[in-house]
Amino acid sequence: MPSNPLAPSWLAVPNDANELPRAVWSRGSKRAASGEVEIAGVPVSAIVAEFGTPVYVLDQADAVDRAREIREAFDREFARVGSAAKVYYAGKAFLCTEVARWVTAEGLNIDLSSGGELAVALAAGVDPARLGLHGNNKSLAEIDRAVRVGIGAIVIDSAVEIERVAEAAVRHDRVQAVRLRINSGVHASTHEYLATAREDQKFGIPLADAAALVARIRSRSSLRFLGLHSHIGSQIFESDGFAEAAKRLFALHAELLKGGPVPELNLGGGFGIAYSSADEPMPVAELAARFADIVAEGAAEHGVPIPVIAVEPGRTIIGPSTATIYTVGTIKDVLVDGEAVRKYVSVDGGMSDNIRPSLYGADYSARIVGRSSDAPPALIRVAGKHCESGDILVHAEYLPGDVAVGDLLAIPATGAYGWAMASNYNYLARPPVVAVLDGVARLIIRGETEEDLLSRDVGVRDFAGHDLSQRESK
Ligand code: LLP
Repeated sequence: MPSNPLAPSWLAVPNDANELPRAVWSRGSKRAASGEVEIAGVPVSAIVAEFGTPVYVLDQADAVDRAREIREAFDREFARVGSAAKVYYAGKAFLCTEVARWVTAEGLNIDLSSGGELAVALAAGVDPARLGLHGNNKSLAEIDRAVRVGIGAIVIDSAVEIERVAEAAVRHDRVQAVRLRINSGVHASTHEYLATAREDQKFGIPLADAAALVARIRSRSSLRFLGLHSHIGSQIFESDGFAEAAKRLFALHAELLKGGPVPELNLGGGFGIAYSSADEPMPVAELAARFADIVAEGAAEHGVPIPVIAVEPGRTIIGPSTATIYTVGTIKDVLVDGEAVRKYVSVDGGMSDNIRPSLYGADYSARIVGRSSDAPPALIRVAGKHCESGDILVHAEYLPGDVAVGDLLAIPATGAYGWAMASNYNYLARPPVVAVLDGVARLIIRGETEEDLLSRDVGVRDFAGHDLSQRESK
């Protein structure tokens, strides 16, 4: 079949628009003989019958396995070069008490970016020593609580935070381990909003200022300097950016060793995953091996011991685990420039459950999951139901041309920064998160109700259990 001229060049017409590409779907996803998709042995129709749509379906074994695999890969590769690694799960990608327990049970630590995320980790019963907190503007209350509960490490992001953390540690009679976040100036090749180490941005401190600030940290007896921290951005595919950042940091790391211990080096997260057929992420084992080689080379070059390396992957662990299932509500064939048709398939969610396509222009893929179809593929665009033309979930995909109202449509790889960045725009209720494992579906975050949506509006007089639409006529 010829491709539609409206399709982007990277999007090929599939031989089979029912196939679930392995790189994009969770490992437990498959199309059953009936034509319906099952995730971890649970047919999507059963999930939808119980929880409705939209719904985030999290393949638990997929997430847990990926957490373990990345932890094992970094352990193995850093043992190979005579050092050790600490893997933190970046909770900002998706955090709830269940996920916090899964990842810590697999030997990971958790990286947090706010007091709210800290509250979730504590509510999950995670040992505070296994938590790290960063952020460019932590409140005094956030710092105080983190120090008080005994957090493992705090990433200092600006000069003023040295005093803030040091004083909190004195207050709570603790010696607080801290890292110092460096803006390495490395230009990671990713979307501008996802790159965090260019010069003109808010995170970290310039390399040139680091030595003086580390001296200040070392002068405070309530602080213990762990090492430098760098995070160059997110959804990065090439290891060159990490290598360059590690190289720049290493020179400084070696210099700092002259003034005292520098046991660790934190290289952040940001490893890319596949969202569409165009993406080819590096396998985790290869990534860990590259990191170990880069760090070992840096250490040899400067004649210093290989530090313990910390990394903070979020998306790599949770992103591929989840698919969001929607119901198709309306379909329009739109003639574009009088030459070709783009099929707009509108579903019952949108930018409120996945803002990434609107915010970053991120590409995703989609499949009809309630049935299979032999119809020739048609170029479609999946749109949400919000009052905004930029409310797009999938910019371009080929689906069977008989896609119909009422079909269940799923978008894979929505586990990272989907639910985490969800909103109530247009007063849509945020969907539930359902974990599936060994043929069983289990609610781990309930969906919001209309009552939830009204619960913080202090002007609402009477909503509990009442049908508000009837209020006027009472
Ligand atoms: N460490 C630090 C210091 C970070 O700032 C981040 C992400 C991570 C680790 C985890 O990055 P990951 O491995 O998950 O890519 N909302 C955006 C991404 C912003 C991420 C910000 N920091 C998105 O939807 O792509």
